[in-house]
Amino acid sequence: MSASEFIPEGADLATLRAASCRCHGCDLYKHATQTVFGEGPESASVVLVGEQPGDREDVAGSPFVGPAGRLLDRALSEAGIDRETVYLTNAVKHFKFTERGKRRIHQQPGRTEITACRPWLEAELERIEPDLVVCLGAIAAQSVIDPKFRVSKQRGEVVPLGAGHAVATVHPSAVLRSPDRDAAYADFLADLRVARAAMR
Ligand code: URA
Ligand code: SF4
Repeated sequence: MSASEFIPEGADLATLRAASCRCHGCDLYKHATQTVFGEGPESASVVLVGEQPGDREDVAGSPFVGPAGRLLDRALSEAGIDRETVYLTNAVKHFKFTERGKRRIHQQPGRTEITACRPWLEAELERIEPDLVVCLGAIAAQSVIDPKFRVSKQRGEVVPLGAGHAVATVHPSAVLRSPDRDAAYADFLADLRVARAAMR
């Protein structure tokens, strides 16, 4: 199973987004509210890739609008990166969760779902052709850069990717969960500053 059969050939970004609403490339569409496709200008020179939409994003239909998104907004602004000019997306486009009472608890997507959904991310990157891809967390880095990429060892390193570059850092949710949130935030911000310097 894969998203590829749901992807119209030669489509622009708006057509891709519309088509993604009908994707049945893996089982995640069955329980989630909606597909959360990437958002931002097609002319963006920077693409930020997260893991998957969370509870808030699933309801809103937009990426990074919950707590992790607020932390990301703050860090982008402190690093001098304008959120309005970047394209924000996720490695997996549907929310994966388990229900505990009325709460929906985030579950990490597995290899099957990451692989099934990758064609959407590839299609977004093909249309946008960014100079720089910023991977937020291991799932994004392994999906975009290399399945063997180690964020703990290689974060903040600019690496070649296609005709451009990529840099990986931790996921903003990892900063929120860190026992030393200030230090984790400072390291996250330092990686985003590396990304800023790599932007043309
Ligand atoms: N975490 C992600 O990886 N992506 C979102 O869109 C929200 C939270
Ligand atoms: Fe399709 Fe991706 Fe959603 Fe799976 S997670 S149904 S592959 S859009």
